[in-house]
Parts: sequence; C-alpha cells; structure tokens
Amino acid sequence: MSKVVSAAKITAVGIAVPDRILTNKDMETMVDTTDHWIRTRTGIVQRHMVKPGECNSDLASRAARQVLQARGLDPLDIQMIIVATVTPDMFFPPTACIVQEKIGAKNAWGFDLSGACSGFLYALSVGAQFVSNGTCRKVLVIGSDVMSSIIDFHDRATCVLFGDAAGAVLLEPAEEGEKGIMDMILRSDGAGGKYLYMPGGGSMNPPSHETVDKKMHYVHQDGKTVFKFAVKGMADVSQEILARNGVDIKDLKLFVPHQANKRIIDACAEKLGVDQSVVLCNIERYANTTAATIPIGLYEAHQDKRIQKGDLIVLASFGAGFTWGSILLRWEMN
Ligand code: UT7
Repeated sequence: MSKVVSAAKITAVGIAVPDRILTNKDMETMVDTTDHWIRTRTGIVQRHMVKPGECNSDLASRAARQVLQARGLDPLDIQMIIVATVTPDMFFPPTACIVQEKIGAKNAWGFDLSGACSGFLYALSVGAQFVSNGTCRKVLVIGSDVMSSIIDFHDRATCVLFGDAAGAVLLEPAEEGEKGIMDMILRSDGAGGKYLYMPGGGSMNPPSHETVDKKMHYVHQDGKTVFKFAVKGMADVSQEILARNGVDIKDLKLFVPHQANKRIIDACAEKLGVDQSVVLCNIERYANTTAATIPIGLYEAHQDKRIQKGDLIVLASFGAGFTWGSILLRWEMN
C-alpha cells in the first residue's frame, strides 16, 4: 500500500459504552471460571453489555452524536459514514444506513465494513482515502460491536473475553503544516480463518434449527493460535511502519494496540521495545470490544490529555481473517 499523499486528520472522537456492567465475579456465577483466572490470563476485570433491545446502531449513533457535538457540527455536514462491525443490527440494511437515519445525516452515504478486530483500522484507512483524494471533507468512521449477541454464555473459553461498545472519529483534511494520518500497513491472511470464526447464519450454513443446536451462530476460537499470530502480527507491522517513516520508537508518544488480551499487549510491546508508559491499555474495564477498542483508546488518551497536538501515535490491530495492520499518525487536535 502506498503512502497517503494529502493527509486526512482526526478532528473529533466519541464513544458509547452500555451502562450495564458484567464483572468477573458475575461471570463466576455463569460458567466454571474464576476472577483470578480471567485477570491473570487476560487482564480483564469487567465488560459492558447492552440491555435487551439495545443494538449496534444505538451504540454507533451515540458515539457519532458525541463526535458531532465535540466538533460543533450539524449532522447534515457529514458526507460519509463507515461502520466497522461483525455484529451489525441485521445483515442488511447496512448499519451505516440505520445510523445515518438515527443521527439525521441525510447528506451522507455509507456502508459497513467487516474486518473483525481490525475493522476500525481498515475503515479508517478507507475513510482517509476519500478525504485525502478530495472526494469528502467530513467522514465518520465508527467501530461498533455488540459481541454479547454472538457469544455463547456457556462457553468459558470465549464468553469472558468480550464486551459491547462503540467508538467513532471524524476525519477531515489536514491543514497546511499538519500531517494527520501519515502511513498505513494493512494485511490479511485467509489461511487464519479457521482459528477464529462464526460458522452459522451466513450462506455457507444458513440459519436452521440444526445450526442453532450446534451453536454455530457463536464465536469459535483457537485462542492459543490466535494469541501467537496476534503478538507477531501487531509487532511486525508496527515495527515496519516506524522504520519506513524513520520514526524512532523513543519519539512515539502513544502506542494503541487492539485490546484482546493484556498478555498479547505486553508481549507485543516488549517485542517492539516500546516503554510501558507509552502503551495504551484499558482492557480491564472493557474487555475485547472488537472494532471499538482502538477508537475508545484514542478517546480516553485525548480526554486524559495523554496526547497533544503534534504527538506521534501508532495504532495496531489483529483479528479474525486473519486481519491485521498498523497506522502511523500525528495527532492534530488540541
Ligand atoms: O481480538 C482478536 C481475537 N482474540 C484474541 O486475540 C485472543 C487470543 N487468545 C487469548 O487471548 C488466549 O489464548 C485465551 C485468553 C483465549 C486463553 O488463554 P490461554 O492461556 O491460551 O489458555 P488456554 O486456552 O490454553 O487454556 C488453559 C486452561 C485450559 O484448561 P486445561 O486444559 O489446562 O485444564 C482451559 O480449559 O484454562 C482453561 N480455561 C479457563 N479456565 C477458567 C479456558 N478458559 C477459562 C476460563 N476460566 N474462562
């Protein structure tokens, strides 16, 4: 993938997290697990979960409205909406269209993007192209997942790992002297598909009593294999993006990895040689929210004033597909 010619920058961030919290102690009452196992093996302490009737587009719309408010925009200013998700409201219409209607962004067009845990980075890269080539001036990029809708709450190997949430950013053209999104490396390897997937409900295994009985509409994962690929994948692309842009790791202000497991984050940071103080980790509060982890990380870093205008940031993700990638950006918000 080639470098971005005229940059897009992030000009606002918003999130939506459901009110309901499920702690590890709560999980102990549901499956044969312990708070100790979950904390030590994953770093997770709690996760948020939608209430009955609350769906993906509700979270995505809330995050989008927060972005509009932060930037002082009218919904009619938005030209494009991309929703990265593996848990859309329905197969169709696209959740992006439902969000468009809910927030009143009548002038926007949009679509969903299925990139699993790399969905947000994929979507950010697509949105950035539309801004940098001059087609759009205001693009909403949303990562939103209701993982509780595809989790088997009887399977301790998966149900403790995920949470529900949405995060959104606004992309606009960078001003003179600004850099915004500087570079991106995006990868996929379909050979990894068998290690993390949801087999039921699509055209290969259309929904039936049998697919439901066989629990095919739930997340299936070979955790150990995904773990190994995730560490190597995120570290490799992050190293590569720093090297090819001549950025010394010491000049990096923030490293925002996908939040799937604290041990993956730590191992990846160690491989990269990046100081812990630079690594964003909030998995203890949200668990793995799939497409939402990275925008939530950016939101919190911005709110906490951990990042300032001019800071260099690397985002990195790994997920089902396999899909993975890294994005290097200079933060241009005050
Ligand atoms: O977002 C991208 C997608 N996902 C990921 O990146 C996840 C990658 N994988 C992982 O994070 C880790 O592999 C897991 C957290 C999923 C599992 O951790 P692990 O250290 O690889 O454990 P394991 O699967 O090897 O299981 C070790 C033991 C097993 O028991 P035995 O066979 O040793 O007796 C499991 O049955 O831990 C058991 N176990 C549990 N015990 C208590 C698995 N899940 C649980 C649980 N509570 N929730």
